[in-house]
Amino acid sequence: MVRAAITGVASYVPEKVLTNFDLEKLVDTNDEWIVSRTGIRERHIAAEGEASSDMSVKAVTKLLDETGVKADEIDAIIVATVTPDMMFPSTAALIQDKIGATKAWGYDLSGACSGFLFALKSGSALVQTGHKKVIVIGVDTMSSILDYTDRNTCILFGDGAGAVLLEPTEDENFGVIDDLLFVDGSGGDALYMTAGGSRKPASHETVDARQHYLVQDGRSVFKRASKDMAQVSVDILKKNNFTAEDVGIFIPHQANKRIIDVAAQKAGFTNEQVLLNIDKYGNTTAGTLPIGLDEVVREKRIKDGDLVLFAAFGAGYTWGSILLRYGPSKKG
Ligand code: COA
Repeated sequence: MVRAAITGVASYVPEKVLTNFDLEKLVDTNDEWIVSRTGIRERHIAAEGEASSDMSVKAVTKLLDETGVKADEIDAIIVATVTPDMMFPSTAALIQDKIGATKAWGYDLSGACSGFLFALKSGSALVQTGHKKVIVIGVDTMSSILDYTDRNTCILFGDGAGAVLLEPTEDENFGVIDDLLFVDGSGGDALYMTAGGSRKPASHETVDARQHYLVQDGRSVFKRASKDMAQVSVDILKKNNFTAEDVGIFIPHQANKRIIDVAAQKAGFTNEQVLLNIDKYGNTTAGTLPIGLDEVVREKRIKDGDLVLFAAFGAGYTWGSILLRYGPSKKG
């Protein structure tokens, strides 16, 4: 059976760093509160005019350089994001043009913090049905939709992009093994952006009412995320007859260190098995999983063939997990 293998990964975060101490100057908060409640110390913020396609192009260019793949060999580009450059054309189309992927088609996908999982599943299906090289990107410019007068939300998020190259393999030691993916739209009122869509198009009134910013009921999201991200991590291992010890690395969505701790504990992982980088980047929404994978590959915390477990929870509600064996990594 053909499986989609992740044969390369790269990421990019903007240069500018916004620390908790910087935020103390913007809203009524403090470093101690943010660190103890979330685990975040700093986050990277896009430069003025730097959009999701720009960050993605930086990550994809690095990915192509390192894997030796040429842009015109790419069959498709899938971009998971809730902060596209604009409503249309798609960010995928903008990236396709900027990198010169002349043979590729592609599209954007809105799955919020679970977006990269949904995109990885989609890319994997394309590979299983004949595509040879698919680029899957998780990117968000959260700073573009954050209200920096709202301490409940502006402290949580950062900007960043990650990209993987998917190629077919018939070797059972590599590739995507299984997924569990969910949507529960009844949670839509816990995390959303009010205006700018067809329900409430942008107007002077919507801008004055600050309706182009993210709104969140943090406690509700926290409760569901802690429960569902932990459960789905346990379930996918059980379904595939693996135990926690079999896993090389657990890469959970980086929304809150306390949510990650619950999932890691429930699934039975040691600290060494868990990727934790929320202190440096905050929540980059669709970016967290590929940025995390890039980090563990570069730090050689995993090698080709190791079992990787991704899990995420986000707006929608959306959540899920994907289990795979990393590699074979391609060196350009
Ligand atoms: N600095 C200082 N105090 C703050 C604050 C901040 N940045 N943000 C909120 N507070 C205050 C609240 O106003 C509240 O005060 P009150 O009790 O006087 O009303 C108090 O701290 C406790 O708020 P609470 O919401 O209970 O805190 P919490 O422990 O739940 O942590 C979040 C808040 C947002 C960190 C937490 O709910 C969370 O992480 N939720 C999930 C968010 C998420 O990950 N979303 C992305 C999609 S997965």
